[in-house]
Amino acid sequence: MVETTPLTPILGARITGLDIARGVDAATMAALRAAFDRYSVLVFPDQRIDDAAQIAFSEGFGPLERTRPGAPGAGSAVVILSNIGPAGEIAAPSDKQLLNNKANRLWHHDSSFKPVPARASLLSAREIPAAGGDTEFASMRAAFAALDPAEQTALRGRVGIHDFGWSRTRVDAALMSEAERHQHPPVRQALVLEENPHGPALYLGAHARGIEGMDEAEARPLIERLMALATQPAFTYAHRWRPHDLVMWDNRAVLHRATPFATATERRHMVRTCVAGAAPTLAAA
Ligand code: OGA
Ligand code: MN
Repeated sequence: MVETTPLTPILGARITGLDIARGVDAATMAALRAAFDRYSVLVFPDQRIDDAAQIAFSEGFGPLERTRPGAPGAGSAVVILSNIGPAGEIAAPSDKQLLNNKANRLWHHDSSFKPVPARASLLSAREIPAAGGDTEFASMRAAFAALDPAEQTALRGRVGIHDFGWSRTRVDAALMSEAERHQHPPVRQALVLEENPHGPALYLGAHARGIEGMDEAEARPLIERLMALATQPAFTYAHRWRPHDLVMWDNRAVLHRATPFATATERRHMVRTCVAGAAPTLAAA
C-alpha cells in the first residue's frame, strides 16, 4: 500500500510502501504523477536502486533529458554529482566540478537556460556526508499565490530571459569557457507557468537575467524580490538526506539549491536523472 505523508503545509510529501527497484505498476505511477503535481517534491526513502532502475522509474514520468556535453555523465541519461574519484577516494574537484558545485548553491530551476527546460529531476543519494550537503526547495506556486491580484495580472504573459553564460559568469568568470557560452545563447521563458493543475508558478532562478520589455534597473530588483518571497522559510522544505533516499522535484513549480558540506573530508555521491519538458514554457503558459 503506497502512503503519502505531507512534509510541510505547502510543499513536499514522503512516499512509502513501494520498492522502486522491483518496478512500479501503472496505477501506482498514475497516483505518483498526481501526488507530484500536488506536492512538487516527493521523497522516497530507502530505495536501493542502480542507474538502470533509476532511469526506468524516471521514464515513467516522461522521456529523459540527455546530459549536457561537458558535464559528468555526458551523453547518457544520468548526471553524477560526486566528490569521489575513479579510484573510490575523495578527489580534488576539477575546475568544472568546482563551478557546478558553487552554481548549485544558488536557487535555480534545472536547465531553465535550455529552449525546453526540464520538467522533473530525480536525485538518488548513494553516499551522503555526516553533516551539510542538504538540498532545499522553495515553492514558486506559493510565491505566486501570495502576490496581490494586480501584480499577478501584471506578471502573467511576461517573458523572462534566461542566460547560462551570464549566470555562470556571476558564479566564477574564470571558469566559464567561451565555447560553452556560445553553446547556450539566452532563451525566452514564461515568467508565470500556468501548466500546473494546482495553480500557477513563478519561473525565475539563477539563470533569469532579465525580463523582456523592462530595463535592467527595474527587472533586477523585481526578480530578486520575487525570489526572496518564494524562498522565505514558510514556503521552503529542506531535505536532510539519508542514504538511499530518492527525491524528485518539479522544476516547473519549485526552486532548489544545495547547501555546503566538508568536500575535502566527507563523501557525497548523488545520481540525477531529468525528465524533459513536454513543451516550451511559453507554449505551456
Ligand atoms: C541538482 C542539484 C543539489 C544538491 O542535482 O540539480 O541542484 O544538493 N543538486 O546536490
Ligand atoms: Mn539543480
